Amino acid sequence: MFFFPLFLGLINLNQAFSTMSKRTIVSMPGDGIGSNVLEECIRVLDAAGFAAEYIEADIGWEFWRKEGNPLPERTLKLLEEHGVGLFGAITSKPKEEANEELDESLRDKGLIYSSPIVGLRQHFNLDVCIRPCHTYPGNPLNFVRRAAGDSLDEPEVDVVVFRQNTEGLYGGVEWTDPPDKVYEALMSHPRFVKNFSEVPKNELSVSTRIFSKKASARILRAAFEYARKYNYTSVTLCEKPNVIRETSGMMFRLAKEIQKNEYPGIELWNTNIDAQMMWLTKNPENYGVIVAGNMFGDIVSDGFAGLIGGLGFACSANIGENVAVFEPTHGSAPKYAEYANSIVNPIAMVESACMMLDHISENEMASKIRAAIARVVKEGKVRTYDMMKLPGKENVLMQGAASTSDMADAIISLL
Ligand code: NAI
Ligand code: MG
Repeated sequence: MFFFPLFLGLINLNQAFSTMSKRTIVSMPGDGIGSNVLEECIRVLDAAGFAAEYIEADIGWEFWRKEGNPLPERTLKLLEEHGVGLFGAITSKPKEEANEELDESLRDKGLIYSSPIVGLRQHFNLDVCIRPCHTYPGNPLNFVRRAAGDSLDEPEVDVVVFRQNTEGLYGGVEWTDPPDKVYEALMSHPRFVKNFSEVPKNELSVSTRIFSKKASARILRAAFEYARKYNYTSVTLCEKPNVIRETSGMMFRLAKEIQKNEYPGIELWNTNIDAQMMWLTKNPENYGVIVAGNMFGDIVSDGFAGLIGGLGFACSANIGENVAVFEPTHGSAPKYAEYANSIVNPIAMVESACMMLDHISENEMASKIRAAIARVVKEGKVRTYDMMKLPGKENVLMQGAASTSDMADAIISLL
């Protein structure tokens, strides 16, 4: 009799604690398979015991069509308030198609579609992009190379690419038929005069590659900091300072300075993006932390992702000073979104959520989920169509491929 109220009291205390410690995560499924993978990912997070409340935020094509804005203000507010977002994928279409699909009342009003994930990166200055590429032993998609005596060799890849996420060639400062002031400025450069002064202005397209010292230093420090935290012995800057002397050159000079003054125990390696793409398949095991500007970081991270299983395995984080958004690098694969049972691999999304857990210091939970993924992959009993190397069609489930939720179930069963 005495124990009863005490017992009840304990339950209430526990409940109060779990409500208090709950994190709020802004979930942004977006378009196509984005919602399939995010839904399964949240089931995995729940099973791992992550106490969170998910607030679903509007983003993507549907909101472009209905409201003329794929990234509504209310979504920005939610992210501003809660700081952490999980993002599925969005669909982007060319300008003309985007206008045609707009609600009739919004058409021909001068609304211009732009990618909401790029919009998010720019709005919150999510300038540090992290893309890890780790081999899971037993993954049939792992890269193999020919070794001595024609034997096959499967090098272990353990690379983390730090990509500057907001500037450079993707910064959006570009023109076709540049305005007079811009043309004048270009004409003040001897190289421009030599190579382009004969070209009619309206036949010129210019995309700029602008790097700032602040953003370059931030991505470099993020890379070195990561190397120090996880005991990597070197950081590789992957640019092209011998040719692109101003932007790549500035990054190289800064990297040397930061290494010398702040991280003397970590070596700085310097590779050119083109050579790096060649060496990628020759000796991928020699690389650890790689840092690059926006476009070269995009290229080199896709290159390494190809060695560890491709889009079904490639995760990423976009981190700013106040907001961080975690997403698989794949898109919305619209064709697959129409299938009655989703066939795509949720691992890239779940891995992105593990990066989120690390970001909010839930490292143990992240490790637990990664270990479960590793076991599922190693056991090889549950494989999505990409892991079976089947063409992506609705009938892959009949051929023994696991569905998106089968894969999530397999991971959950080990948590
Ligand atoms: P995609 O990444 O959506 O799909 C390309 C192919 O990769 C698919 O057909 C499929 O074979 C495979 N694939 C993708 N995700 C997979 C997964 N989780 N498991 C297994 N296989 C997977 O790229 P695509 O087809 O070029 O673009 C489709 C749409 O997505 C476009 O509208 C594009 O603009 C958009 N997109 C959005 C991105 C984002 O939200 N961050 C990134 C890339 C594309
Ligand atoms: Mg890319």
